[in-house]
Amino acid sequence: MKRSILITLAIAAALSCTACGSTDSGTTSRRKFASAETTTAAPTEAAASAYEESTTEAASEEVTTTAETTSSEEETTTAAAVETTTAEAAPAGGEAPAEDVIKTEAPSPEDADYAPAPAKHDIAGITYIQGALIANKTYSLPADFAPGLDPTCENQFYKMTNDASKQGLYIYFASGFRSYEYQSQIYNNYVARDGQAVADTYSARPGHSEHQSGLAIDVNSIDDSFALTPEAKWLADHCHEYGFILRYPQGKEDITGYQYESWHVRYVGTDLSYAIRNSGLTMEEYFGIDSKYKD
Ligand code: DAL
Ligand code: ZN
Repeated sequence: MKRSILITLAIAAALSCTACGSTDSGTTSRRKFASAETTTAAPTEAAASAYEESTTEAASEEVTTTAETTSSEEETTTAAAVETTTAEAAPAGGEAPAEDVIKTEAPSPEDADYAPAPAKHDIAGITYIQGALIANKTYSLPADFAPGLDPTCENQFYKMTNDASKQGLYIYFASGFRSYEYQSQIYNNYVARDGQAVADTYSARPGHSEHQSGLAIDVNSIDDSFALTPEAKWLADHCHEYGFILRYPQGKEDITGYQYESWHVRYVGTDLSYAIRNSGLTMEEYFGIDSKYKD
């Protein structure tokens, strides 16, 4: 087989591997995620996009290099044409240097920039990452998803409030599960009062509220005055011990998509609550996802 065909196939392989994420032929410093095969699930959109970018860059670099090695037999092929048309990229002659060979080995945990791919699943229209249900401005819940308050979340909540009471602190349940229809009523009332742009900063559109998941609880007064109380400080300092995270922290409004809510906790289980707390990240940052409405 002519060398030109071999190199064409190599470049085509590099481009087509963006979906599996197993190719790392780039020289960038982006984190390398393990392939879907090694983690049993596809990488996140962010990971996939990082791969696509790095692989595309790499392919472009390869193409440029091979163009430079084009033999006299292919003198009519310009570098520009090679860069813009992958199918025409491979030279028909000339020896490609060894360093032009596209590497196809999977990322290794030994690599300094290695990171396992977050496992992301869509089950019946609901997105889960590492087993955690995701409900934000990007990821919605089906309108008929109405699980009620999760029993483990509820038990852990009362364990937490019981422990808080031993410190003389009164943390009480204010709002838990909210159906799609109920969230619609709340949201529409806020839109009527403040307009949609403002309402969107503090109230979720129907189908986008964590309260519909049955895994979120609002406590106490549900307004900014709560943040100044000893209860709010204790909640922020201790909720992870019970599997909760403070979901909409101060200073992360552009990332979570919502104003600071000192009263809204989300149950994720203690493995994740400790991991997220120790990371100092929001759920969005921890999983590398967005929280933005499409319109
Ligand atoms: N206040 C939160 C964002 C909700 O409406 O679910
Ligand atoms: Zn809430």
